[in-house]
Amino acid sequence: MKAHSTETRQAWRAGLIWFDKDHVMQHASDGLLVTERGNDGIHRVVAVGDYRSVQPHYPDLTPTHFPHQWIAPGFVDMHIHYPQTDVIGSPAEGLLPWLTQYTFVHEAKFANAQHAHDVAEFFLDELTRNGVTTALTFATSHPASVTALFEAAQQRHMRLITGKVLQDRHSPDGVRDDTEQSLIDTETLLQRWHGVDRLGYAITPRFAPSCTEAQLRGAGELAAKYPSTWIQSHVAENLDEVRWVHELFPKARSYLSVYQDFGLLRERAVYAHCIHFDAADRALMRDTRTAAAISPTSNLFLGSGFFDYASAQASGMRHGLASDVGGGTSFSPFHTMLAAYTVGREGQTKPGLSLSPEQLWWQHTAGAAQALGLEGQVGNLLPGCDADFVVLDPQATPLLARRCAQADNMSELLFAWIVLGDDRVIAQTVVQGQVQQSKS
Ligand code: GUN
Ligand code: FE
Repeated sequence: MKAHSTETRQAWRAGLIWFDKDHVMQHASDGLLVTERGNDGIHRVVAVGDYRSVQPHYPDLTPTHFPHQWIAPGFVDMHIHYPQTDVIGSPAEGLLPWLTQYTFVHEAKFANAQHAHDVAEFFLDELTRNGVTTALTFATSHPASVTALFEAAQQRHMRLITGKVLQDRHSPDGVRDDTEQSLIDTETLLQRWHGVDRLGYAITPRFAPSCTEAQLRGAGELAAKYPSTWIQSHVAENLDEVRWVHELFPKARSYLSVYQDFGLLRERAVYAHCIHFDAADRALMRDTRTAAAISPTSNLFLGSGFFDYASAQASGMRHGLASDVGGGTSFSPFHTMLAAYTVGREGQTKPGLSLSPEQLWWQHTAGAAQALGLEGQVGNLLPGCDADFVVLDPQATPLLARRCAQADNMSELLFAWIVLGDDRVIAQTVVQGQVQQSKS
């Protein structure tokens, strides 16, 4: 069943996890979540908290009960490539050979609208199976790839942001676009889809080496003309890539500042990786309210480097978590959070720190939403947030059941899920009050 619920008001009883206004994780081991469909058709949370304190306000509601399970906000993936669903696990000697040997070859297939449609449906199923209810995703340079994904997401009432990839140079036939036409296509798609239902448009220059100055300038002009759109790209992922950018843009202070020079850093601009940064880059991110999409499984798989959490936190730049499939190796937010922990802990090439399970969870839910400019809409269960959530099963596997039974507090339970969890932990994913997927 893909239709969203026609029920006006619904109640859900289970353990509950959410973040309060000060971003502190709260939980209720026997909680009640009440959702309501607004006049605009969007289902939102109206009450969250302990069952015994919330239930008396809603005596007529019969909650759907998940005993021994936990309801948590749907996960938010800040950076993923839907056309790279079939690229996962393609090994190469770093980013640039990986792009030419596998990625561009697969993306060329999206000239075919039927192929784009088939992959879009599979991709959204896979996000849902893994508990991801909001994603900022690349499409390909083919406009039909954008249409296919928006149509599929719209049918499911999902909150999803995507855009046509801009790449008018250093790209092979089949994916390279034309400068002028690419900007016309971007504006046409943006006008058609941005703000329709729960969909948003992201202006998507692939990365500085794949875009001429004219294309970057045009992208920046569109970003200024349509300030509520998103911008998504890549920056400072790999040292060969960084050297290449210095050759191509010799006057720029840094790789990041190339984007600044073309008006591509602002609120709702999201840059994947941000590894090979200096203090001035981090300050520029902070001052322009640009967000970093940290993609640890991708960085480990492609050997790109380790995101410097300590410096990012000290600088105050916005950041959150992302899978970066297909450079990334998993759709599962648990795998991404575990890799983020590992990368944060690495202390030989940068300062190492231990991220708490609550911090990791924040970065893949409400923190990611805040970095995307969607705070109070997704990634949390405070009243007013969209009713997109997951039901987590502490007994999903024998080992998890054993470990969770010995968890003495919420932090230990969260860490058990992060370390041992995968799609099996996601018992249900509920989008707009409608169960999307059930293991039974
Ligand atoms: N840089 C430019 N394109 C890509 C891509 O598709 N994946 C990653 N990880 N980095 C990129
Ligand atoms: Fe990427």
